[in-house]
Amino acid sequence: MQWLITGCSSGLGLYLARRILSAGHKCIATSRNPGTTPDYVAEIERLGGIWLPLDVSSNNLEKAIQAITENYGFIDVLVNNAGFGDGGPLETYSLEAGRAMMETNFFGPLRLMKALIPSMRERKQGVIVNVSSAAFWAPHAGVGVYSASKFALEGLSESLSTELAPFGIRVIIAEPGEMRTKFVQADKVSHLTIPEAYKGTPAEAVLNFITQRDGRQDIDPARVAEAIVQHVAHPPNSDLTLRLPLGTESLTFLTARAENLSKLVDASASFAKSCDFPKDE
Ligand SMILES: NC(=O)c1ccc[n+]([C@@H]2O[C@H](COP(=O)([O-])OP(=O)(O)OC[C@H]3O[C@@H](n4cnc5c(N)ncnc54)[C@H](OP(=O)(O)O)[C@@H]3O)[C@@H](O)[C@H]2O)c1
Repeated sequence: MQWLITGCSSGLGLYLARRILSAGHKCIATSRNPGTTPDYVAEIERLGGIWLPLDVSSNNLEKAIQAITENYGFIDVLVNNAGFGDGGPLETYSLEAGRAMMETNFFGPLRLMKALIPSMRERKQGVIVNVSSAAFWAPHAGVGVYSASKFALEGLSESLSTELAPFGIRVIIAEPGEMRTKFVQADKVSHLTIPEAYKGTPAEAVLNFITQRDGRQDIDPARVAEAIVQHVAHPPNSDLTLRLPLGTESLTFLTARAENLSKLVDASASFAKSCDFPKDE
């Protein structure tokens, strides 16, 4: 099995590359600037992997993917892992920053899938793993645009899971909670300032909570990588086919969402049906 992973310069992407290679698969690890992580590049190449430059928000993404498949052959497993988080109340969050986030967290995966689905479809095999977030189950105040980028990825992935099933292509959504990676390291979030009007509101509480957890998050990215690789290589015979909650936090958010959805079904049944044409019209 040949895997292609985006965003391998740190965190989950790097752990995935290591795990994929130790499991005996072929791995093409990619990152925006391989020159900034020479030790990781050397480590992955020593383990038998390939490391290539790939910026998922680049204008040349499709050309880059074409060159990769021409040079290295069919991609069996695509892992859309590259992504970043950011936050702040929407009214002070720039449109430009929102668009940049969607380019990386949503349009990057969309473009990679568009580029690779034709060859997967022709061969009637392939797996696409899209790394979303536990934020899908609990979109907190202060991180609305990040949550929206993952919601968009979730909607696209769920639709594709049925669209591509007839061609033997599996789509998996990985939903980790807070992992101990560089995701919220101080240098990445130092620009976040809470406007005066939002002091003492849920947005401030969430942003403070997230940044103060740096280095103390409960979820181990190495174990998340292990779970994803196992799941792709050995699909379980269970309902765990599309969404993979990863870490206790993700399961807790999912449980709360399931309870809320159940209450919503009960509360809205007659209200929703009141909008239908009467049956005898
Ligand atoms: N850590 C968490 O708590 C958490 C929770 C839920 C979901 N996630 C998701 O998990 C995934 C991995 O995050 P992580 O925790 O491993 O964070 P990380 O350590 O910050 O790694 C993110 C990776 O994405 C790369 N990246 C960012 N923009 C890119 C672009 N335009 N093109 C290519 N690569 C790009 C980064 O590369 P550079 O070094 O070039 O910036 C880095 O390699 C992300 O999709 C994130 O949203 C993380």
